Amino acid sequence: MNASAPTRPGDAEGLEGIVATRTALSDVDGHAGRLILCGQELIDFVTGHDFESAAATFWATARGESAEASEVVRAALGRAREAGFERFERLIPAFEGLDVSERLRLGLASIAEDGPSVPHVAVTGAIPVLVANLARLEQGRAPMRPQAGSAHVDDFLRMLEGCAPSEPAVKALTTYLLTVMDHGLNASTFTARVVASTRAGLVGAVTGAYAALTGPLHGGAPEPVLDMLDAVGEPGHAAEWIESQLHEGERLMGFGHRIYKVRDPRADVLKAALEQLAPAGERLELARAVERAALEALARHKPGRRLETNVEFYTAMLLDGLGMPRSLFTPLFAMGRVVGWTAHALEQRRTGRLIRPASLYVGERPGS
Ligand code: ACO
Repeated sequence: MNASAPTRPGDAEGLEGIVATRTALSDVDGHAGRLILCGQELIDFVTGHDFESAAATFWATARGESAEASEVVRAALGRAREAGFERFERLIPAFEGLDVSERLRLGLASIAEDGPSVPHVAVTGAIPVLVANLARLEQGRAPMRPQAGSAHVDDFLRMLEGCAPSEPAVKALTTYLLTVMDHGLNASTFTARVVASTRAGLVGAVTGAYAALTGPLHGGAPEPVLDMLDAVGEPGHAAEWIESQLHEGERLMGFGHRIYKVRDPRADVLKAALEQLAPAGERLELARAVERAALEALARHKPGRRLETNVEFYTAMLLDGLGMPRSLFTPLFAMGRVVGWTAHALEQRRTGRLIRPASLYVGERPGS
């Protein structure tokens, strides 16, 4: 064990504060409320790229190379979406009895590490095909083929809705996907790096990362955020409802973060995207009232904890505003975050060592 590593239980439960790797991909400053993606401020990254150029930037940074042209990545992702569709049709019988998220996990695990597309492109191309067509399957609609020549986000919305998407919808969803693309060494990204560090393939790294993402303490929070808004019902009930939840020891979904001790900068980017998409909705009014009441109540109930709005709160609002079914929220997070997972796995393979931390034994010792 490293001499400076914690040696008592509780010193680093959850590995809090432990620097486990070096990365050029993203930097999260939890005290300043700042997120840097591949050398750019979050807002500049989100406004300066489409999905393809964002992915090209991440993959190039991970490999220490200069970025491929957007059109090259667009064509490669188009081919990967087509391959994803061929697999999707073959998988349909195996989906029986599984929910959407489990079906996505199965769909990811079914991708060959040495298929026609390089694995980071294959998994990134497969996710929108899976997500859109799993939704269609749920709604009893026939699967829809991707259009390989289309832009990634446009093609996803077209497959999901069955018609050409509106420009505001493409813009709002692109903002969302880029905003959640990467975020330091969060639980799912760490999972991807651990798997990649063993020299197992990228598809395995992404399948494991997705499993980590599905937990309610990580990427599974937006659905409960909407359940909370439904339960509150109208702005005037927010304070009373929040108070009763905290009184019962419940956690408020969409608030608190392991790293951010100030407002999550992603919440602001998504809130602005939501205000553009649906400037005057009742839902937005309700969300504002719940956010105000929650922040006020959390400050009173948990003084000194600094619990602020996290990315999941406005994610829920934005995806709901885009008309996305709740069962797609975590899969949609994966559609953006897969770029971060694959970039971290590529970077880990290029620069990292096998990740193998120590544990502190607290069981019985024979003879003691
Ligand atoms: N509502 C009420 N109380 C909370 C909340 C919350 N949302 N978050 C933390 N607390 C309280 C805890 O009960 C604890 O109180 P105590 O010390 O009196 O027992 C204290 O604040 C610290 O909590 P921890 O669990 O130590 O904080 P941690 O850093 O481990 O948790 C987490 C972070 C898991 C995100 C937490 O804030 C939470 O459960 N939030 C709600 C779920 C959520 O929004 N998840 C999405 C996170 S964003 C993402 O992953 C992309």
